[in-house]
Amino acid sequence: MCGIVGYVGNQQVVDVVIEGLRKLEYRGYDSAGIAVINRDGEMQVRRAEGKLRNLENVLAKNPIEGDYGLGHTRWATHGRPTEENAHPHRSSDGRICVVHNGIIENYLELKRELQKHDHRFQSETDTEVVAHLIENHLRQNPNLGLEGAFRETLKQIRGIYALVALSADEPNKLVAARLGPPVVIGLGEGESFVASDIPALLEHTRNMFFLNDGEMAVLTRDGVKVENAKGEAVTPQVQRITWDPIQAEKGGFKHFMLKEIYEQPRAVRDTTQNRVSLDTGRVYLDEVNIPAAYFRSFSDIKIAACGTAWHAALVGKYLIEELARVPVEVDYASEFRYRNPLLTPSTLMMVISQSGETADTLAALREAKEKACRSLAICNVQGAMMTREADGTIYTHAGPEIGVASTKAFTSQMVAAYLFALYLAQERNTLTQDQLKWHVRHLSELPVKMEKLLNNPEIDYEDLSKHFVLSSDFLYLGRGINFPIALEGALKLKEISYIHAEGYAAGEMKHGPNALIDSRLPVVVINTLDSDDEKSKLRYEKTLSNIQEVRARDGIVVAIVTEGDQDTRDMASFTIEVPPSSELLSPVLSTIPMQLLAYHIAVRRGCDVDQPRNLAKSVTVE
Ligand code: AGP
Repeated sequence: MCGIVGYVGNQQVVDVVIEGLRKLEYRGYDSAGIAVINRDGEMQVRRAEGKLRNLENVLAKNPIEGDYGLGHTRWATHGRPTEENAHPHRSSDGRICVVHNGIIENYLELKRELQKHDHRFQSETDTEVVAHLIENHLRQNPNLGLEGAFRETLKQIRGIYALVALSADEPNKLVAARLGPPVVIGLGEGESFVASDIPALLEHTRNMFFLNDGEMAVLTRDGVKVENAKGEAVTPQVQRITWDPIQAEKGGFKHFMLKEIYEQPRAVRDTTQNRVSLDTGRVYLDEVNIPAAYFRSFSDIKIAACGTAWHAALVGKYLIEELARVPVEVDYASEFRYRNPLLTPSTLMMVISQSGETADTLAALREAKEKACRSLAICNVQGAMMTREADGTIYTHAGPEIGVASTKAFTSQMVAAYLFALYLAQERNTLTQDQLKWHVRHLSELPVKMEKLLNNPEIDYEDLSKHFVLSSDFLYLGRGINFPIALEGALKLKEISYIHAEGYAAGEMKHGPNALIDSRLPVVVINTLDSDDEKSKLRYEKTLSNIQEVRARDGIVVAIVTEGDQDTRDMASFTIEVPPSSELLSPVLSTIPMQLLAYHIAVRRGCDVDQPRNLAKSVTVE
């Protein structure tokens, strides 16, 4: 997923753009470039393959200056990751340049048409077509100006895009448009910013808004004008982003992912606070702005999500059905949107998303809204598309999650789902006040338990990882509410260490996976125990049997257990203890060893933990 930064104002644009692109490196890229108009009105472009430091080396040898311009980190889709294909791309006369995130599906036909009118192309990319289209409109009608030519160009392209363009002939002006991938606009004093994500702008301004699909913006030193697809002026909903810029930095950790794993207690605390009363057990979700009466009456819930967020949705199903007794169906968003789902106006549609921009999840939300469902999002990014299209949002307050592998957002999503389940139980009277107080108390104790687990000196994940650095396959097993954590543990390992891993319901071992067991196969088994919970005890005993089956076939067992569990320890090859907790909150704790084991194995294997190959932080294309 590409990174975009544009600036117009009084600062040195090169500094603003390069620092902004650095904050977007987590998005993954393979080349970078910058275009600046100097005070003589000359377009200066510098581009380089590979990492941002290569572009900085080019700039050091051949500096440029100016106070408006734009930059880009490219994740190659059309055309190899070469300097020629790096953005920004220019028009034939070199007076217009463009950066782009997305895909222009009809670029070839447009390119052929332009080539008939002596447009010369320098790259294999779809993006370059946009610069030539703007130029072509200006050739035919110079009175259009950049704004008008850009508006006409948007009518010609099909696909999805976050686009930013400028012209050397119209000083101190940028134009931007969005259809799909996010575009965030930052407002400063005598300066304006545009980027593909919030962290790029945080050190300059907290006043930001996301463009909506179909909208176009014109940025100048005096501010930003926004219009919708019909050309009507739009007043944007400016958000005050409360994220601390430091949170978007590594803060002394080797990787963003490790920092974010250790930020989880704070993320859970911030997601919980001001939403519960320890005294009364009441849960407050006023910010959701859907009438409480609705929550007392709707019939069922559908949850759509992708990847890790889908695992959070599976945990949410257990929580909501257990606490509020409301039927919940969970779907991959990419499946939901194409299976003609059975939705009625009394169905509550939920989406869970860290970014709030995932294309499949957005499409699932829109599908449900077309069928008159009320909708609720659990999201981590203020003002993201999903939060503006859903009827209500429960924000996770995990702060910016930079690592591609989701960690603190995931545990915060599970806590948000827990809060929602308790809220439903409260409104539908499926729990007594004492029961609510019990759950709220356990929830408020969770961050301390997470900190204790994260800082347990007896668990040496780095040492443990040396046993598995050459493994080619892993199996993760869990039962009940920890089955989704087995899935999540497998996803964490495969996406950052590139080791194949599979999560499975422990009870399914006899139905096939037992055939996999041998002395080379590590099997991670979650077998925590809430000794006050009869169902937990039963689940624990059954899982203990699964561990015996694995050990009987010389399988290697890494067991995640509750502190003091000697029985499982006696059977396992390796044991990681987590603090005691209620059954329903155990997934938040059992997730942490999964994250750290995957992290240390990936580091030992020399993988790019924060930017794993082939992955993007937010999948804004199908
Ligand atoms: C999680 O580790 C992955 N990076 C990925 O599966 C992610 O959870 C998925 O793409 C959904 O993203 P979202 O939460 O921003 O919608």
